[in-house]
Amino acid sequence: MSTRQRVAVITGASSGIGAALARTLAERGWHCVLLARRVERLEQVAGESGAEIETCDVSSREDVDRVAARVLERHPAIDLLVNNAGIPSHGSFLTASPERIEQVIGTNYLGSVWCLRAFLPGLEQASPSLVVNIASVAGTTVVPDAGPYSASKHAQLAFSRALRAELRPRGVSVLTVNPGPVATEGFPQTRLIRRRSMRWTVLTPDRIAEKIVRAIERGRTEVVIPRWMRIAGISTGLFPATVTRMVARGDPGRDVEIPEDGGAER
Ligand SMILES: NC(=O)c1ccc[n+]([C@@H]2O[C@H](COP(=O)([O-])OP(=O)(O)OC[C@H]3O[C@@H](n4cnc5c(N)ncnc54)[C@H](OP(=O)(O)O)[C@@H]3O)[C@@H](O)[C@H]2O)c1
Repeated sequence: MSTRQRVAVITGASSGIGAALARTLAERGWHCVLLARRVERLEQVAGESGAEIETCDVSSREDVDRVAARVLERHPAIDLLVNNAGIPSHGSFLTASPERIEQVIGTNYLGSVWCLRAFLPGLEQASPSLVVNIASVAGTTVVPDAGPYSASKHAQLAFSRALRAELRPRGVSVLTVNPGPVATEGFPQTRLIRRRSMRWTVLTPDRIAEKIVRAIERGRTEVVIPRWMRIAGISTGLFPATVTRMVARGDPGRDVEIPEDGGAER
């Protein structure tokens, strides 16, 4: 009897959490297809995990459709799609450039939507299958100095939660993952790491990848990693006005000046 090797498509797999997930899933016998924009970095990760690679900009619907068609030709059944690709906003609603704000929404939120739609035939073919959306604790609470990022994660979280009901009859489950701080290229967490009293709150990509795989294996619906950070979403959900007021009081960004260049990338 031949048993088909399980196939996982991971977006944003050229570094950080996506790359660590690729290694962890490969160790557990998954065949991974890695998507991102930087081909050399994808090749490096694929070399460590024996995966296939495809360059893809998830914010471009055409690119996603083209790549998904190529992947589905090779793998008509996709057991797992991980919507992980994401970028920081490098600023607030006033300081980030308009282009960056569009890019953040296009990548973090719409990228997940386009990938889900494009890979759905493969997920249905492999049913029972799974979509994992890597959202964020920032999608559950108030983050003034990274407002555009937080808004994109709120949108991605709403997408992920709504999706579960819609995909259920198709035999596709959904796992929403809300990580707290993880030290990666895009999100170095320098401010937290510099403060000795806060350093312990920052996880490594390998640690978070292990926890995500455990949540997949246990059939979880939504997880916050680390667990204690659920307090952010719970307190904001119960007392949004109080949390908003408290955060605004402590936010040094209130007197921020809008740069002349409209907040080009910093
Ligand atoms: N690190 C944290 O503290 C933290 C906390 C909560 C949630 N998250 C989320 O975790 C996910 C992974 O982030 P990370 O921390 O691992 O950061 P990272 O190391 O910077 O990885 C981001 C990945 O996304 C890819 N990517 C960015 N834009 C893309 C695009 N348009 N198309 C395709 N791929 C794209 C990058 O590859 P290329 O540049 O090669 O395209 C890279 O592989 C993100 O969704 C992030 O929001 C992170």
